[in-house]
Amino acid sequence: MDSVYLETLKLTKFRNHENLSLDLDSRHVVLTGENGAGKTNILEAVSFLSPGRGLRRAPYDTVAMAGGGGSWSVFARLNGAEGEVSIGTGLQETSLGVETQRRVHINGAQAKTADTLLEHSRIVWLTPAMDGLFTGPAGDRRRFLDRLVLAVDPTHGRRVSNFEKIMRSRNKLLSENQIDETWLSATEEQLAELAVSVASARHEMVGLLSGVIVQNNDPASPFPDALITLSGSLENEIGEVAASDLEGEYRDRLRDCRRLDAAAGRTLEGPHRSDLVVHHRPKSMAAALCSTGEQKALLIGLLLAHARLVGEMHGFAPVLLLDEVAAHLDEGRRRALYDMIDTLGCQAWMTGTDRALFTPMDNRANFLTVENGQVRH
Ligand SMILES: Nc1ncnc2c1ncn2[C@@H]1O[C@H](COP(=O)(O)OP(=O)(O)O)[C@@H](O)[C@H]1O
Ligand SMILES: [Mg+2]
Repeated sequence: MDSVYLETLKLTKFRNHENLSLDLDSRHVVLTGENGAGKTNILEAVSFLSPGRGLRRAPYDTVAMAGGGGSWSVFARLNGAEGEVSIGTGLQETSLGVETQRRVHINGAQAKTADTLLEHSRIVWLTPAMDGLFTGPAGDRRRFLDRLVLAVDPTHGRRVSNFEKIMRSRNKLLSENQIDETWLSATEEQLAELAVSVASARHEMVGLLSGVIVQNNDPASPFPDALITLSGSLENEIGEVAASDLEGEYRDRLRDCRRLDAAAGRTLEGPHRSDLVVHHRPKSMAAALCSTGEQKALLIGLLLAHARLVGEMHGFAPVLLLDEVAAHLDEGRRRALYDMIDTLGCQAWMTGTDRALFTPMDNRANFLTVENGQVRH
């Protein structure tokens, strides 16, 4: 399988990195250094090579180096899915001040939308902030699932944001004193179409991912198989009811629930309420009831299965950003993780405070030490 990897990464006024430049080869990347050195910031910069707000979901202006005027940039040269490519992104300073939306340049030309980035690479991540994924709010799990979908279907991000936008306009229409019936019906029609396409894409991903998990089942693996399903009124019917019928049904339900929704001030039913339900398959236990370590292992297993799926579907594996993952694993699991990322044929970026944790990576990685916004090879 062709490997997609970063050859260079240059950051300018990106958080605590005023001017950082990394030269890499196709091997994995290990970043070690003390707390606060700027390791996660580097992973975050890499995550901006995919559409969206990156692995911290940070507002773009907070990414700019404090006291640095507000502009920032990330530049990378990639051995991408379509060959060598230069990608630049960030907030630019113009004569009118610093822009608020990040621009994306590909080989020097401005891309129409950040979605174009997905032609060159897919990037997925696991961060300590995701440790509570199974016990936290359903919204986090939906977002996690949507990112997994986005890695195989670049139009999914737009689909979800359009759904949310149309839903907000429906909520607004419902809150008005004089409701424009025709306008509201047209909005609900649109909303139903988007809702079914969002739910179908998620449903399909859960099916594909389940297939990969079952296919690669290895009882000896330290990363237990996850049993994943979707819960939600639309999702439960997909596969049993034709998409066009489902659209009609949901549209009718929206019409019938106008009074209730208006009283609640929001749309009470739809794919914005659905959930990704995860079980520890060998133990038949809900993920939320598993130990912290088991939950981490489940999540790693899910992410690796997804990376395998992307590789099989597209011929190239995603770039994996694994923030502080090694520290949570015992030695056996660490070794198993390193071996598994090797077989995926991806460039994995890993961080940790302790260099010794990565000793088994040996000559399989670029080893970098991060110190106060500086990096040593
Ligand atoms: N916009 C910013 N400007 C300057 N420094 C920042 C900004 N945002 C975060 N930092 C600093 O970056 C440092 C490194 O953060 P991080 O990458 O999370 O460290 P770690 O190496 O522990 O992963 C922190 O000390 C934080 O205060
Ligand atoms: Mg960190």
